[in-house]
Amino acid sequence: MKHLLNAHDLSHEEAVLILDTAAEMETLTDRSVKKLPALRGRTVVNLFFEDSTRTRISFEAAAKRLSADVINFAAKGSSVSKGESLKDTALTLQAMGADAIVIRHSASGAPQQLASSGWVDGSVINAGDGRHQHPTQALLDAYTMRKHLRNNTGDLEGVKVTIIGDVLHSRVARSNVQLLHTLGADVTLVAPPTLLPVGVQTWPATVSYDLDESLPGSDVVMCLRVQRERMNEAFFPTEREFSLRYGFDSERLARLSDDVVVMHPGPMNRGLEIGDAVADSPQSVIVEQVANGVTVRMAVLYLLLGGGPADEGTPR
Ligand code: CP
Repeated sequence: MKHLLNAHDLSHEEAVLILDTAAEMETLTDRSVKKLPALRGRTVVNLFFEDSTRTRISFEAAAKRLSADVINFAAKGSSVSKGESLKDTALTLQAMGADAIVIRHSASGAPQQLASSGWVDGSVINAGDGRHQHPTQALLDAYTMRKHLRNNTGDLEGVKVTIIGDVLHSRVARSNVQLLHTLGADVTLVAPPTLLPVGVQTWPATVSYDLDESLPGSDVVMCLRVQRERMNEAFFPTEREFSLRYGFDSERLARLSDDVVVMHPGPMNRGLEIGDAVADSPQSVIVEQVANGVTVRMAVLYLLLGGGPADEGTPR
């Protein structure tokens, strides 16, 4: 595998290999020196045309923990604001010797275009493109579920995951449904009809409009961010009505098992798709998801860039 563009490109074997490699990477966090020399002399470019906190910082931390050189590129403040194209930006990065380009872009398919264009030689990793895909988010989410529900081994066969909210605009939902299906989990999507995409019935998931009917029996409840910035029309009458019907609040949490795992990819709209008390509850693993993002992204960079087994201190 040279690139990571879509969650559905991963076979069951490849997905489990990434999760297992991340588990080995996690043992690093117990060491006083958290660095491995695996990617010494390699260059990772973070090419972000859209805002990000978690993904950009965790890719930077992941690359640095593997001893790679990191170049951070944000479209704001670059020559993109003078009209430079994706092609010319890519050619500039290629001239700097990028071994991997981590790209976030508002246009669905931009990472695919970069990977297939021949503009760059290195690996391309999709860090979120439009409504389309966010494969490393799905991997870190699966890793977090596996840690809590499967002793951090194997896959997620039979795990019941309920994903709530703005499915229509969510690359997180698309990637999660595909990867969770590959790993054997049972996914239910719950949203108002206006926030479900055309063709959702063909996805490998159950679809429901009724949250209270869908929640019982869930092992994992994942709330999606309501993406106001992608909404140029009204998708629900009022935020209060959305919150009453689809918000995961403390009353709904109280009806579930104490072992339920509560997730959110962030950033959260507290009080809209998720209640304050739920986000901060003992069942919430939202902060842990961010930490797991570093180890999972280390695993992805390590496997794509072929950190050699001969390198001292690298995982097998
Ligand atoms: N979950 C996620 O992609 O967060 P950021 O937008 O902060 O990277």
